[in-house]
Amino acid sequence: MEKMLAWIDARFPLTALWESQWGKYVAPKNFNFWYYFGSLAAFVLVIQIVTGIFLTMNYKPDATKAFESVEYIMRDVQWGWLIRYMHSTGASMFFIVVYLHMFRGLMYGSYRKPRELVWIFGCLIYLALMAEAFFGYLLPWGQMSYWGAQVIVNLFSSIPLIGEDLAVWIRGDFTISDVTLNRFFAFHVIALPLVLLGLVMAHLMALHETGSNNPDGVQIKYQPKDPATGLPLDGIYSHPYYTVKDIVGVVVFLAVFSVIVFFMPEMGGYFIEANNFVPADPLRTPVHIAPVWYFTPYYAMLRAVPSYFGTQVWGVIVMGLAVMVFFAVPWLDRGAVRSVRYRGTLYKTWLAIFVVSFLVLGYLGVVPITIWGQFGESVPLVGGVDRATVVARVFTALYFAFFVLMPWYTAIDKTKPEPTRVTG
Ligand code: HEM
Repeated sequence: MEKMLAWIDARFPLTALWESQWGKYVAPKNFNFWYYFGSLAAFVLVIQIVTGIFLTMNYKPDATKAFESVEYIMRDVQWGWLIRYMHSTGASMFFIVVYLHMFRGLMYGSYRKPRELVWIFGCLIYLALMAEAFFGYLLPWGQMSYWGAQVIVNLFSSIPLIGEDLAVWIRGDFTISDVTLNRFFAFHVIALPLVLLGLVMAHLMALHETGSNNPDGVQIKYQPKDPATGLPLDGIYSHPYYTVKDIVGVVVFLAVFSVIVFFMPEMGGYFIEANNFVPADPLRTPVHIAPVWYFTPYYAMLRAVPSYFGTQVWGVIVMGLAVMVFFAVPWLDRGAVRSVRYRGTLYKTWLAIFVVSFLVLGYLGVVPITIWGQFGESVPLVGGVDRATVVARVFTALYFAFFVLMPWYTAIDKTKPEPTRVTG
């Protein structure tokens, strides 16, 4: 083996790559629960790619065959049901894992100098992931696939001047059709996975250049070296220490994942919606059209914004800004410390407000629009608007306030001094 490795290393930097990216990568020794989700995101990405390859072997991207090809996978292809449920469950789990991963970043200030690019690549991954999920959702060609795509693509037509042409250009037709299905298939199975893989590599290379942050926000790179090991005082090699820790994460994840895949793959309609077991029918609009849960916070914002001057474009702008604002975070935070552990009450309160806003908006987004009005039945309407809309507006404002006011509250927040050694 050693001889073979030497032979390879003389021709390809295999050992050097392994050591720089993992084996000899020195990480802080105090990673906690929140540090499971990066490796888990990578693990889910692999699950999605592998199950996706097998699904593609039997799926047919043709409007007359797509729905039945998925039924064929579920009923006739050996283990097809497992592959399909792993892929559909994997999509939701991807977002759960990525949301927890992003929350960790906000908690510990992982986006702060010098890790701005790690964060920016992360935000680009998030955008690509949303596009990947959106394109994939059309493929089963169920009622929800069809009408969900119709609603989202129609949003583009609200853009002044170019909107209508843009929507036709995206669809390749005047309505969602076989042409649209073909191009969404191309984006879903090859274009976006390539982009995602490239971005994840860039994300990790940037991280391994700057070194990892940690729950204390201590920069281990600048610590004195331990004479015995030659490593920073609070640093350890990723291998074997974090290899073992990440394997624990994967095992626990697989337990949760298996319970969902084997016992509740539809997750009460949250992971796979009931309406998607009905073939797409362009002549019959479903009563409730709602995106999958991971898009609902943004969807609630879209619904909450009034159509001033008869155009929905304002809601579309708000929704777009709600995602894009993440890119600005490294430059909005002016706090003296990174980690929430040493921040004052102000940052902690605003972070909590942000999380609550995201959850409340997410909830309002899954509630059918026809029920929004009924929330208000027992209370007087506020300014002629139903209560759910008022709540959605308040939480949309709070969501943005978290970002917009950040330069102010982080600067005046009463922080504790950051330690020079990690606290465990
Ligand atoms: C496919 C999606 C993603 C994968 C596979 C991925 C992978 C990873 C891995 C393996 C790490 C190192 C281990 C860890 O810190 O947990 C990491 C760190 C990090 N990621 Fe991601 N990531 C993804 C998405 C994102 C997103 C969407 C963001 C933010 C918008 C983000 C921001 C960060 C930051 C700031 C760090 C540094 C954390 C620290 O050192 O404290 N990542 N990522």
